[in-house]
Amino acid sequence: MTEPELDVHSEPGALAEALRTDVRSGFSATQKWLPAKWFYDARGSELFEEITALPEYYPTRAERETLAREAAEIARVTGARTLVELGSGSSEKTRLLLDGLRAHGTLQTFVPLDVSASALADAVAAIRADYPGLEVRGVVGDFTEHLGLLPGEPPRIVAFLGGTIGNLLPADRLKFLRSVRDVLTEGEWLLLGTDLVKDPETLVRAYDDAAGVTAQFDLNMLRVVNELLGADFDLDRFTHESYWDAANEWIEMRLRAREDVTVRIPGAGMTVHFAEGEYIRTEISAKFRAAGVAAELAESGFAVQRWWTDAQNRFGVSLAEAVRDEMIE
Ligand code: AVJ
Repeated sequence: MTEPELDVHSEPGALAEALRTDVRSGFSATQKWLPAKWFYDARGSELFEEITALPEYYPTRAERETLAREAAEIARVTGARTLVELGSGSSEKTRLLLDGLRAHGTLQTFVPLDVSASALADAVAAIRADYPGLEVRGVVGDFTEHLGLLPGEPPRIVAFLGGTIGNLLPADRLKFLRSVRDVLTEGEWLLLGTDLVKDPETLVRAYDDAAGVTAQFDLNMLRVVNELLGADFDLDRFTHESYWDAANEWIEMRLRAREDVTVRIPGAGMTVHFAEGEYIRTEISAKFRAAGVAAELAESGFAVQRWWTDAQNRFGVSLAEAVRDEMIE
């Protein structure tokens, strides 16, 4: 019997329904915004892959450097039988972990979870081809909602890489970390990637590259709204910006209206006006400090056992153990 290609934790039409909800609340807010997860249809996932190769976008390379150096140590410390990867995208960096865990001899199951069915299907097929004997259970879902359904034997490592945790607002971050802690047993593991605070120029350029790939990625969100909700966003009327919010220590991606624009969004039953210069916040990407990461993990029921950075101290990777927590157990 062949394995099912993917477990899909959503009803047909659920995607449009979820976007409709986000559009209705995000576009009726004083500061218009949409959640960053709506970047990632097939086209958006491709564009993100392109971003990871840009000279300005250092996080992917910095994190890879650390994972390459520490994969064997991660396997030794955790002895993991299952690797769960949240928001795995192409799962390319995952191979470093899979190689380390396999060499150690404990790994049985790999569970990549992603909102993008297309990116996930490609990744699952590629990993199955290259890792015979490994059980691969792809899950299409939103990591803020579908954690309870994860397969695989303990001890498990939940890997949340790339700095994607920075896309969540601080309160949502804690909620999310607690939900991860909730599905784990004491002694299981979280491997977390966090981009670090650094000079604003480097940060701003990482989110506004010279070749304009990030601008296309940002604008793709409007195309997703057009496709799923039948909206008539004219992408030429919006321009991409990257902004460093020094007080919150996060990058914001913004789509700013070049002129007054009226957009009809039938799938959300609304018409939205943008004044010239008004912007939609499409992403926050928070940047961290070591002490802050440890504090947030402690508050969520994890103890940091290892903390690593790349040689240039640009990006942090923490290996944290689920510990006893009265709030949970
Ligand atoms: C995939 C969420 C980690 O926030 O750096 C890249 C997404 N946005 N360029 C990030 C992103 C703009 C990326 N994450």
